[in-house]
Amino acid sequence: MFANSTPVHSTQSGLHPDLTFHVQRALDHQWQRPIAEHTRAAFDTAQQFYQAHGGPLILDAGCGTGHSTRQLARCYPRACVLGIDRSADRLSRNHDRTLGAFPDNALRVRADLVDFWRLAHLAGWQPVRHFVLYPNPYPKASQLKRRWHAHPVFPVMVALGGVLTLRSNWQVYVDEFACAINLATGQKPPVEALSLTPESDFISAFERKYFDSGHALWQLECALTSMDIDYA
Ligand SMILES: C[S@@+](CC[C@H](N)C(=O)[O-])C[C@H]1O[C@@H](n2cnc3c(N)ncnc32)[C@H](O)[C@@H]1O
Repeated sequence: MFANSTPVHSTQSGLHPDLTFHVQRALDHQWQRPIAEHTRAAFDTAQQFYQAHGGPLILDAGCGTGHSTRQLARCYPRACVLGIDRSADRLSRNHDRTLGAFPDNALRVRADLVDFWRLAHLAGWQPVRHFVLYPNPYPKASQLKRRWHAHPVFPVMVALGGVLTLRSNWQVYVDEFACAINLATGQKPPVEALSLTPESDFISAFERKYFDSGHALWQLECALTSMDIDYA
């Protein structure tokens, strides 16, 4: 990747005025969209891998090329790390051929997270860690509902539990996510600026690209308790 990424540009300089409405609506109404067959099949593959491994579960949601999945598998060698992304193109790319074989304790699967998260929750998965690294920001105000925290699947993300780590190069995204977590759980997770240096171990391909492009990077981390959601 090249260091030519432009910072996120948005007419929004603070929380979207409709944020609370959309988060509360998602919390009050269970999302019923049918689950796509291709994600069901991908979930079955992931489930078999996880069951065979048996270790604590780490999710890398929107893993892109899977660089972060690989890094997490190395950092947590006892864990079972699942990288999930809907883009076959991203998943097939290998930017750094010097990295060697994919770790045995990690798997990348192609799936739509909005369905994968619901299947994971239905199956009773309780990840110990859940990484959401540099999600698409959808910075136009009209795109609010496409941001994870204002999406109908948000309560399921939260209900999975575990320590959730969100990183973004758009502070507004992380501030909004913190506000949504507060509405869902009452917690007030701090939003922190990441202090990385050129020597840092960049967790993902986008982190490296944004750092090299001089962007400020933001993180939120919070420990969530898994909750029941009624799908009946
Ligand atoms: C900006 S990239 C970040 C990739 C990676 N986390 C990183 O930091 O390098 C966002 C990724 O989220 C994936 N994504 C967006 N919406 C998704 C969805 N509904 N299901 C699965 N993946 C999704 C995209 O395909 C893309 O690879």
